[in-house]
Amino acid sequence: MLQLAIINGPNLNLLGMREPHIYGSQSFDQYFEALKKRFTSVSLEYYQSNVEGELINHLHGCMGKVQGIILNAGAYTHTSIAIADAIAAISIPVVEVHISNVLAREDYRKTSFIAPKCVGSISGLGMNGYALAVQHFIDANP
Ligand code: DQA
Repeated sequence: MLQLAIINGPNLNLLGMREPHIYGSQSFDQYFEALKKRFTSVSLEYYQSNVEGELINHLHGCMGKVQGIILNAGAYTHTSIAIADAIAAISIPVVEVHISNVLAREDYRKTSFIAPKCVGSISGLGMNGYALAVQHFIDANP
């Protein structure tokens, strides 16, 4: 069975209550339950941390366990060379996801250190971005 890891970075534990006009009113736990029901042919695991080093440790820990990673690194997207290096170091394809359209927001959100290390990026399609990334990995692993 295809095994995928979803990893969310800082402040994404507050989805549902955090700036709902930008990120919507659904918690990630609620969304994740619906996602697992939608993709029953895939094994999905979920991890969230607000701590950069813990995200890096988790990326390393995915080696040999999953065939794809869906990563919303939150604000670390725009700052973290260390997370970009971790993605490059593990030979697992990573899809970058952002709930909001980062290119339509503040200038400092327009740079992603991780995007060049990812196989692709999804931004601005709301929580559905995670489902689209899951579908990508299904299509890429026939
Ligand atoms: C985000 C966009 C980032 O700029 C922001 O720091 C987040 C969430 C998104 O999902 O739209 O925390 O990654």
